[in-house]
Amino acid sequence: MYVSAKEMLIKAKAGHYAVPQININNLEWTKAALQTAQELNAPIILGVSEGAGKYMCGFKTVADMTKAIIDGLGITVPVALHLDHGSYEGCYACMDAGFLSVMFDGSHYPIEENIEKTRELVRVTSERGISLEAEVGSIGGEEDGVIGAGEVANPAECKQIADLGVTMLAAGIGNIHGKYPENWAGLSFDALEKIQALTSEMPLVLHGGTGIPEDMIRRSIELGVSKINVNTECQLAFAAATRGYVEAGKDLQGKGFDPRKLLAPGVEAIKATVKEKMTLFGCIGKA
Ligand code: 13P
Repeated sequence: MYVSAKEMLIKAKAGHYAVPQININNLEWTKAALQTAQELNAPIILGVSEGAGKYMCGFKTVADMTKAIIDGLGITVPVALHLDHGSYEGCYACMDAGFLSVMFDGSHYPIEENIEKTRELVRVTSERGISLEAEVGSIGGEEDGVIGAGEVANPAECKQIADLGVTMLAAGIGNIHGKYPENWAGLSFDALEKIQALTSEMPLVLHGGTGIPEDMIRRSIELGVSKINVNTECQLAFAAATRGYVEAGKDLQGKGFDPRKLLAPGVEAIKATVKEKMTLFGCIGKA
């Protein structure tokens, strides 16, 4: 079922679990994520960065492909196709292409400008029945050309943005995209607690889901996180499985070079990663 992220996140917040956002890169990625969600009867959010959208020949290709896969595979669990770290213009491009969920990442603007642009997008998305994620306090590290300083969000600013009526709020709490460095200080639960206290019902979003220790993930969910983004971990799992296949010389045996065979171990690795995350996030059976 192709939907916005609103209902699934309200349910997740009330039920104290989180819905994964799995970033997609191609048909195999999308199919693997959707099949796993269906098998586990779990809601899912498919994340698409602006770079991934370009790679897949534009947002319309992504929206049409996702809808067609949902239809073709008979996927009945709720699926939200979501723009990840979108620019203001990118949000409009995705809405026009058929996305029912977008993120406006205004964290690099001064807070007044972030508020103004988010306010405008709240108006447009609510008219169109589209869910909107906003961000306060940039996420550290680099993702598809979006580079963040890794700030801990100011709780009062989080409340200002939440009060505009966004669907979900991403707040930097020491999280980083990609692998975490050895000397990482961990998530700031103190900041998360304050943000949660001020934003109450608002589903909170944790970016940089790759490599966060399980106990920190559980604690974040207890403190109000209802959506957790995972990108790099699926990429690493896909690459390792593909490497294993080639290093074992399987592409040289029989028709092992057939892309449907060559990519199969990688696809299975993505499925296993999504399953592991859904188990940890507690969303199995919550469709
Ligand atoms: P990771 O690549 O660290 O899993 O982060 C994903 C993310 O936050 C997408 O916005």
